[in-house]
Amino acid sequence: MDRFKITGGGPLKGEVTVNGSKNAALPVLVASLLTDEPFEVSRLPLLRDIRTTFRILEALGKKIDYENDRAVITSAGQLSTSAPYDLVKQMRASNLVAGPLVARFKHARVPLPGGCAIGLRPMDIHLSAFEKLGATVATEQGDIVLTAKKLRGAHIKFPFPSVGATENIMMCAALVPGTTVIENPALEPEIADLALCLNEMGADVKLSHKTITITGKEAMHGAKHRVTADRIEAGTYLIAVASGGGRAKIRGCVPGDLKALLSALEKSGAKISVNGDCIEITGPARPKPVSITTKPHPGFPTDLQAPWMAYMCRAKGLCRIRETIFENRFMHAAELARMGANILVKGNTAYIRGVERLSGAIVMSSDLRGGAALALAALSANGGTEIQRVYHIDRGYFRLEEGLRGLGAKMLREHIKE
Ligand code: UD1
Repeated sequence: MDRFKITGGGPLKGEVTVNGSKNAALPVLVASLLTDEPFEVSRLPLLRDIRTTFRILEALGKKIDYENDRAVITSAGQLSTSAPYDLVKQMRASNLVAGPLVARFKHARVPLPGGCAIGLRPMDIHLSAFEKLGATVATEQGDIVLTAKKLRGAHIKFPFPSVGATENIMMCAALVPGTTVIENPALEPEIADLALCLNEMGADVKLSHKTITITGKEAMHGAKHRVTADRIEAGTYLIAVASGGGRAKIRGCVPGDLKALLSALEKSGAKISVNGDCIEITGPARPKPVSITTKPHPGFPTDLQAPWMAYMCRAKGLCRIRETIFENRFMHAAELARMGANILVKGNTAYIRGVERLSGAIVMSSDLRGGAALALAALSANGGTEIQRVYHIDRGYFRLEEGLRGLGAKMLREHIKE
């Protein structure tokens, strides 16, 4: 188990380049199940969740060769349609294998994901959409079993724009005869990236601002896909620089995917300038308080809510953060309070009264983005901080300490023997 040791202090300065997006890479890798032809994915950081996806694909019968942030996925014989529990339980997005498998083989068996730290995260929206496409859904010994004699395109209206359900149904519908229309889909940049990848594989997926239309094809072929930039990693670096009043360039971004964050940063007093794929930020000495509400894209992303809270802990005044996507995503608030933050959580709203300075402490990551928030708080705190359970952070940030050290942070990873 690793821990981070961070010494707070000076502002961050310099340049950092963001990696490919974890959340875009996961469905793109899973899309390889739609074909037996070789499939190449590049700009792929070797994160824990990506490794888990490799292992799931291997368990289903794919062969993966990974080198220099590029994976070549080939078929090693007949694919299995049952995903193993031991791997699926490590990562909720593994339920995405259901869509391609049921589309191709009319059968998929996927362990039902359990609850997780940030909420219950059920699969009801995915499952009722599979039923609309003609699949039968059953639960057997904790697994979801999808079977179908024949699938057909359908008009599906989501009660909520679920990212995972949109991805699962897009991949399935790509091979389902007829036209499928998803009304009220998620339209996150990662969805656009998956649509691009599917079209590169021969699919016909069209995105509009309210619907996604997929015309099913008989078969998909191999493709080469370069994963889009990780907007959450970019956002985390931007907030880190802003927090300590630093100045840095974040390269390799898609600035248009970060509009809600950039606007909140400007309101907080940060100066932003965009030049192509580079965002330059200069942070304020202390931020103005800026309230946010998390919303589906293009609203403020829930994955940046915890980093934003860390930033607001030093705001000059009171603000509130409303979390509308997940029901239990404030666990970092108690850890930030251990560092001297003044936060009151009431239901889905956190009220933060900024303090002049946080102070270092021993804290624990409870989840991926909450863990990153603790690192950001530690960077501008007085004294040293130890962050435990870094494995949560490693699921989604590729060597966060190296990126932040490149900006001048005093941050070390220590390996603790169990
Ligand atoms: C994805 C992202 C995650 C991000 C989230 C919201 C990946 C791997 N993960 O997660 O980082 O925080 O989008 O932007 O891309 N829900 C239901 N029923 C369902 C499906 C979802 O009630 O069938 C609820 C969930 O419990 C949650 C909310 O909808 O409260 C959002 O979930 P969803 O958009 O599906 O997020 P994920 O795909 O799990």
